[in-house]
Amino acid sequence: MPVLPLLVDTDTGSDDAVALLLAAAGGLGDIRAVTTVAGNVPVGTGTRNALISLETAGRTDIPVHPGCARPMTRTLSSAQHIHGEDGMGDIGLPDPSTACRNTHAVDALLSYPREHPGELTLVTLAPLTNIAAALLRDPGLFTRYRHVYCMAGAADLRGNISPTAEFNLWADPEAARIVTQAATPDTVTWIGWDVSRKDAVMTPADQQRLEQLGTPMATFAHRINRTVADWAREVTGLPGYDLPDPVAMAVALKPDLITEQEQAHVAVSVADDTRGQMIIDRRVSAPAPNITLVRRVDETGFKQLLFDTLSTPVPTRSPLTDTAPHVPGTGSGS
Ligand code: RIB
Ligand code: CA
Repeated sequence: MPVLPLLVDTDTGSDDAVALLLAAAGGLGDIRAVTTVAGNVPVGTGTRNALISLETAGRTDIPVHPGCARPMTRTLSSAQHIHGEDGMGDIGLPDPSTACRNTHAVDALLSYPREHPGELTLVTLAPLTNIAAALLRDPGLFTRYRHVYCMAGAADLRGNISPTAEFNLWADPEAARIVTQAATPDTVTWIGWDVSRKDAVMTPADQQRLEQLGTPMATFAHRINRTVADWAREVTGLPGYDLPDPVAMAVALKPDLITEQEQAHVAVSVADDTRGQMIIDRRVSAPAPNITLVRRVDETGFKQLLFDTLSTPVPTRSPLTDTAPHVPGTGSGS
């Protein structure tokens, strides 16, 4: 299969990190740049985590551009209670050996597709703040990408961060509204938390298989997801932790994993008690669809891609086997 040129927008928490490994080391993606945004963790932490994840995949050459530090109008509500204070399970990952770029994420999201019109696929794994800010400067932005895949929403309206909302829409519903107003079903596909909950749950057997692989990427992926495993057991009641960003990335890399999808008109609530809820209009009189919604994927195929990628030994300095001395207060050392 041809390798897919990608931009990835992320609020690098533990599941984003696995999605970055899939894209960087799975043989299907060619990440041209990563942009970061506040969400799971503050943007500086997410940027550090993106650099660490790319280094774990042996790709310190990929540029990382830091972006918006807060939602468009609201204060930042992070998900550190789920992913850990550092967003990566608080296992004491050492600092990355590379630094981020000076070009802002929004400038990068605007310039890369202008330099490579119609060539790049954008995969968003975070609140849509950077994307919305770019759209306000270039309303035709989505037509300059080959396609835009977003880990966003929950088409069955079952929330994870609230009874009715998925975190990426809940964190910045105003940004999500700008995205839905610019989207068409031919340019934008959403892979929601409903897909992750049904077809991308790492069961205890999957977790044991991952731990037993013993490669740097598998060990990294297993250990950074330990706090979300607790959240799944105690809050969402899933039989393991789910992988929303990796399954969204897998769909972008391998669309034949999709087993069920629909096109619908989607809006996003900005009201207080239903903030971030998807408003899907399926009435005959509904406006024309604006988004393609993936509803189910091939779980076996997704997990095969995941385990094949993580079992790849890459020639890299793995943060978990790093011999760097532990320097208190810097998070370095494992
Ligand atoms: O609801 C799942 C989304 O929120 C994922 O992007 C995950 O990283 C969390 O931030
Ligand atoms: Ca994310």
